[in-house]
Amino acid sequence: MPKLTLLDPTKTGKQAEDLENQLRHFVVGQEEAIRQIVRSYQTHMAGLSPAGRTIGNFLFLGPTGSGKTRIVEATAESLLKNPRAVIKIDCAEFQHSHEIAKLIGSPPGYLGHRETHALLSQEALNQHHTDSVQLSFVLFDEIEKASDALWNLLLGILDKATLTLGDNRKVDFSAAMVFLTSNLGAAEMSSLVSPRLGFHVPSFDGPGSNGKLSSRISDVGVAAARRKFTPEFINRLDKIVVFRSLGKVELRKIVDIELEMVQQRIQSAAATKPFLVDVTDSAREFLLVEGTDFRYGARHLKRAIERLLVQPLSNLMASGQIHRGDCIRVSHEDRSAALLFGREPEAARAWGIASRAA
Ligand SMILES: Nc1ncnc2c1ncn2[C@@H]1O[C@H](COP(=O)(O)OP(=O)(O)O)[C@@H](O)[C@H]1O
Ligand SMILES: [Mg+2]
Repeated sequence: MPKLTLLDPTKTGKQAEDLENQLRHFVVGQEEAIRQIVRSYQTHMAGLSPAGRTIGNFLFLGPTGSGKTRIVEATAESLLKNPRAVIKIDCAEFQHSHEIAKLIGSPPGYLGHRETHALLSQEALNQHHTDSVQLSFVLFDEIEKASDALWNLLLGILDKATLTLGDNRKVDFSAAMVFLTSNLGAAEMSSLVSPRLGFHVPSFDGPGSNGKLSSRISDVGVAAARRKFTPEFINRLDKIVVFRSLGKVELRKIVDIELEMVQQRIQSAAATKPFLVDVTDSAREFLLVEGTDFRYGARHLKRAIERLLVQPLSNLMASGQIHRGDCIRVSHEDRSAALLFGREPEAARAWGIASRAA
């Protein structure tokens, strides 16, 4: 009998692999969420997603500033080349029926019917499609605040991948990934990790990891979701993912990512003369210390970078102290409350723009 050729079902296609790599580049420490998104995408690309279902329905739980929104933007950025190609619905804003009309439009004949541009119309869903990628990304934030009317819409989308608009037209969600977030259980989860401990705990996948604690945190989150939401809802989800709170190791990586993004902002700001920012290790460490507040995850870090780096850079630019092609070295000296900015003499030439601009 001919021998069976063993195949490797864990190997993904090139597109899924690219998505995974890009998500890994942008999002730190949320392996499980990355895995789930890539998995759904791969199934969709293979054409094997179940009929009449969205590409994926995910409930993201976990602390604020841990990357729940970022990972959705990063998926859009990776697949549609546009991090803003996400329809975001803040559930707290749709409590009353007239607010629901903003989502689905009002029935014909209603006052203002023609003026309503339903946020969830097919056109809205398809607006960011490109020639090669026809996917949509829809994010419902803080779903525990959704009104009953909004719940019913959501259940329909999760169950049949369709939504009926006010004028009875149907919207097809079968090419959409639907993300739901909630900070439900966040308080209980963080009580398992004291703020001081939190500094060490979160590296669960890496060396010194604390897998037991992380799975306990995850269990608490999932249990909170099961208590709060109906089984009908829970059963329609593809996956509940509990985001980890970020520790120092993760925040340090995020400093590097955010600094890369600051450099990109400088490059693409039309009004500015591009220049290079060289942030030393001591300055990165200072930003990390100033930006660490476990209550707000990476949000606090981003604010520190804006305040301590971007604002001073803006001043230097506006006051004509930075020129096209400059290389600005940003460093930090012990116990100083601010960063130190200096222009490097030769680096400009190395970068190759200065001479042309002069
Ligand atoms: N895990 C992460 N990896 C990379 N950046 C992150 C991560 N978590 C948060 N950030 C940064 O902090 C910002 C706020 O995080 P966000 O995703 O909006 O938090 P939330 O979990 O509350 O939705 C993001 O825009 C991103 O810049
Ligand atoms: Mg968010």
